[in-house]
Amino acid sequence: MSSDKKYRILFVCLGNICRSPAAQGVMQRLVDERGLTDRFEIDSAGTSGYHDGDLPDRRMRVHARPRGYELTHRSRRVEGSDFEHFDLIVAMDSANAADLRRMAATVDEARKIVMMGDYIRLQRNHYDYVPDPYYEGSEGFELVLDLLEDACDNLLTQLLAQPHSPTAR
Ligand code: 4NP
Repeated sequence: MSSDKKYRILFVCLGNICRSPAAQGVMQRLVDERGLTDRFEIDSAGTSGYHDGDLPDRRMRVHARPRGYELTHRSRRVEGSDFEHFDLIVAMDSANAADLRRMAATVDEARKIVMMGDYIRLQRNHYDYVPDPYYEGSEGFELVLDLLEDACDNLLTQLLAQPHSPTAR
């Protein structure tokens, strides 16, 4: 490894209390399981400030816990400095991505934005984004967790396969 620099990933949704803190928890565990904890920094944020300082939505915590995720992130809004700090900014849906593109100060910053949906392999209902579960029932939260577990595994596998992978720096 040529450098100690961490690879930094920011997951982004609207409220930062349902989808993106769950994505953060899923990805953190994958990284920990692979012994890569010190190679990555994983965080999440929201495009709104609606829930600043809040824990993840209770329903998301209740659905995540049996899968082994304790979600303790505190909601925060995306900041301009996030576009410099993070290597990859992962939007849960196209509205999140559009908001992020408006916030990016340079073309290089905008290039860091990717869609979580591009990493979903599950064929169920052919989701190409992570649907907002906020106004949904239990199935909505389970669906989000299924999609995130699939997409995070695929995203990490693809990152590690790159020539400049986080473990090769
Ligand atoms: P999230 O879900 O973007 O996945 O955190 C939402 C949480 C809160 C609201 C909307 C979506 N809200 O309108 O307060």
